[in-house]
Amino acid sequence: MYESEISQRKTFAIISHPDAGKTTLTEKFLLFGGQIQTAGAVKSNKITKTAASDFMEIEKQRGISVATSVMTFPYKGKWVNILDTPGHKDFAEDTYRTLTAVDSVILVIDCVKGVEDQTRRLMEVCRMRNTPVIVFINKMDRDGKDPFDLLDELENELNIQVHPLSWPINGGRDFKGVYLLPSKSLNLFESNKTKKTDDIVKVNGVEDERLDQLIGDNNAKKLREDVELIDGVYGDINKDDYLSADVAPVFFGSALNNFGIQELLDTFVYIAPNPLSRHTDLREVEPTESKFTGFIFKIHANLDPRHRDRIAFLRVCSGKFERNKGYKHTRLEKQVKFSNPYTFLADSKEVMEAAYAGDVVGLYDTGNFKIGDTLTEGEKMIFKGIPSFSPEIFRELINLDPMKSKQLEKGIQQLTDEGLASLFTQEPGSRKFVGTVGELQFEVLQYRLENEYGAKCRFEPRAIHKACWMIGPKDQIDDFMKYRQNNIAYDKDGKPVFLAETAYILRMAIDKYPDIAFNTTNEIQAG
Ligand code: G4P
Repeated sequence: MYESEISQRKTFAIISHPDAGKTTLTEKFLLFGGQIQTAGAVKSNKITKTAASDFMEIEKQRGISVATSVMTFPYKGKWVNILDTPGHKDFAEDTYRTLTAVDSVILVIDCVKGVEDQTRRLMEVCRMRNTPVIVFINKMDRDGKDPFDLLDELENELNIQVHPLSWPINGGRDFKGVYLLPSKSLNLFESNKTKKTDDIVKVNGVEDERLDQLIGDNNAKKLREDVELIDGVYGDINKDDYLSADVAPVFFGSALNNFGIQELLDTFVYIAPNPLSRHTDLREVEPTESKFTGFIFKIHANLDPRHRDRIAFLRVCSGKFERNKGYKHTRLEKQVKFSNPYTFLADSKEVMEAAYAGDVVGLYDTGNFKIGDTLTEGEKMIFKGIPSFSPEIFRELINLDPMKSKQLEKGIQQLTDEGLASLFTQEPGSRKFVGTVGELQFEVLQYRLENEYGAKCRFEPRAIHKACWMIGPKDQIDDFMKYRQNNIAYDKDGKPVFLAETAYILRMAIDKYPDIAFNTTNEIQAG
């Protein structure tokens, strides 16, 4: 069912190492999609280094990231859903989870820097999930690396085959444009930040004599040699190899100069996958199934002070999601209903009546949702593969205002539901340890606890190396927990966790209890 709706949807994320040009490219997509009239309308949601201690800045930027979390626009008969991801590395978890809700990605690479840290990590997640990737090599108006070297670097470092669909003619100040390999045409470069069409010149392949006039003899000669080499090495591209995530098509351009955007966007809507099936603990769910299913991949505090509730982002996986219809919240085993679900059209939020596979719906939440929660029409299942990460930094939460204990308790429970940090509680005494992947989270937590919940607190460093979830024979785990009782705490689901002080202590535990697996991540749903 709903084939025609599903075949229109393209749900994807633009990912990059910070500063490669993700925000600029997103903006240019909206510009080309007719959603904004001028460049500069989309602000970066990245939290800059200098802002790390500037709380107002964090708040402001969080606000922007809510507003631009999902951008939907129609383009050439399709509905394009761009899911935004935070650039800052301390919020990488948020990015990885968002990647569970997309069907493909566009990876932006800075031609000067090539493959960078975050590029590698993000691609690892895409490889794990077999997400189809298109690569956009950006900033061709700058003197960058040799394009052949860049392709080699992508293949070697990202473990994926690449296939250029456009080819640059020089770079930096001498950048002349790109040759479009499939259509055998030239897209001539002109530094321009506002135009919305490319100057495409159809030529008769690289042998066409007009090439020499258009780009100069030397450039034409070099292009002929390059294209011969490319044809020899890469041959024809096969769409199925892209869809199975074995081959990544590559484009060259300059987002800032609106150059190469049109061909990227047109190719994207043409070849990118429609909503794909997804795994649950019971079975594979197909987008065309008549019954609705979906999962929560992101939770965000509502910044509007008049509404203290939160926004849960639901990815629809199958069927039709409808306003005011009751659905089953499978973890809580209760019925839930939404009177004001909304979609994210351009820069506004609009109450929606129905959504289909591939769509993202914003749900007002009063504390019912955790990341990974599943909604269905009754079937008791849970979507799998939403990653949870091994916390790297641990601190104890110290209450500074005993009169506000309740507020602090509520705040820390709710904020950790958002996936910002992991919470471990030790009994007796209810000591609370918080684990994160980055420093910035503690600042954000402290600030939000005070501003949103009126609770004053401090985070004190604790010597904890890793939090380990234990899997193994019950008697062994019971024995171990008795032996290390001072280092056992409980996660939010009540599962016992061993807080190992050092790598050495963890190794000792592994040696002493070989039948217990000490896992440093607790997949929200393993898969
Ligand atoms: P990000 O979201 O991936 O972090 O990157 P963003 O788009 O914010 O771009 C990072 C910087 O790179 C910005 O400059 C942006 O203008 C610049 N940039 C993006 N695309 C191109 C391009 O094609 N060519 C060149 N030369 N630069 C490009 P900035 O100075 O950090 O910010 P701004 O003051 O220009 O906004």
